[in-house]
Amino acid sequence: MRIEAPELLAALPRLGVERWPGTALAERTYFGIGGTTDLLRIRDRQALPELVRLLRDYGIPSRLLGGGSNLLVADGELPWVVLQLAPLAPAVQIEGQTAWVDAAADLGATVTQCARANLGGMEGLIGVPGSVGGALRMNAGAYGTQIGSFVREVVVYRAARGVIETLRGEQIRFEYRHTSFDADDMMLAVKLELVAKPFAEILHTIRICNEKRRASQPLNQKSAGCIFKNPPGASAGRLIDELGLKGFRVGDAMVSDRHANFFINAGAATCADMLRLIDLVRERVRRAYGVELEEEVIIWKA
Ligand code: EPU
Repeated sequence: MRIEAPELLAALPRLGVERWPGTALAERTYFGIGGTTDLLRIRDRQALPELVRLLRDYGIPSRLLGGGSNLLVADGELPWVVLQLAPLAPAVQIEGQTAWVDAAADLGATVTQCARANLGGMEGLIGVPGSVGGALRMNAGAYGTQIGSFVREVVVYRAARGVIETLRGEQIRFEYRHTSFDADDMMLAVKLELVAKPFAEILHTIRICNEKRRASQPLNQKSAGCIFKNPPGASAGRLIDELGLKGFRVGDAMVSDRHANFFINAGAATCADMLRLIDLVRERVRRAYGVELEEEVIIWKA
């Protein structure tokens, strides 16, 4: 979608918003899939309420993009503009055993930066790609660690009410790859309470997690990580693998031959190919095991 209204175009620089017209989301997502639209990069977080209000006034739908690591975006010209927080520096500010982190910060870089200040706990999250804001929204987790466990406060723009609020950790429910945030809440910053540990010890655990991940996941291919949530008591990857579906493909969308819950863009996969592959695999699992797999990846359908 193109922003064309001259008054709106003129307001963007005043709000500290940069417009990148006709951005291909295929270049902004780990899947390498997604059509084109105007991308609005937001530097001043306080300008969000006015920006969202203006977009609404002009009837322009919008979506918020985090790091693009867990996202499947529709093909073609997209019917909404995309907002994205521009990174701030410094993204991480340590105060004692806590760290204030900007939502646009890279999650892995945040884990490393906290480690350098002898603050650990989040080692398991080291290889989880994407932004801190996206990780928060999903309650990202790996190797027995999830980000929600460390959250003390979250600054969030509540689009439904047009206000920026600070929520205490106890006000938010963090569940397996799910949180109680409203669908249109936008994460702006988080205060994490971490665990005092020597850097060397943190580094040791980080190395172990990295090795495990390298051994089991297709890290050098275009994917959005796990496609499905694990059903209670089972591994989606193992269920798909046991059906012999590794390497199964629709066009260039393919079930990874390394980890069956990772689907790969093996070349020029479209969103339509990937959605078809997701449906076919889900159907096979349903028929074989009577288990309904639920997507973990976020899907932006047009
Ligand atoms: N397995 C197979 N075949 C496969 C994949 C896995 O048999 O193709 C077996 C493994 O051998 C293992 C079991 O299934 O015995 C579980 O596999 P794994 O340890 O790889 O963990 P997972 O349950 O598949 C989860 C998370 C990952 C996270 C890892 C490590 C979900 C949906 N997935 O995977 O998260 O990195 O544990 O903690 O919760 C993600 O969220 O995108 C993601 C990749």
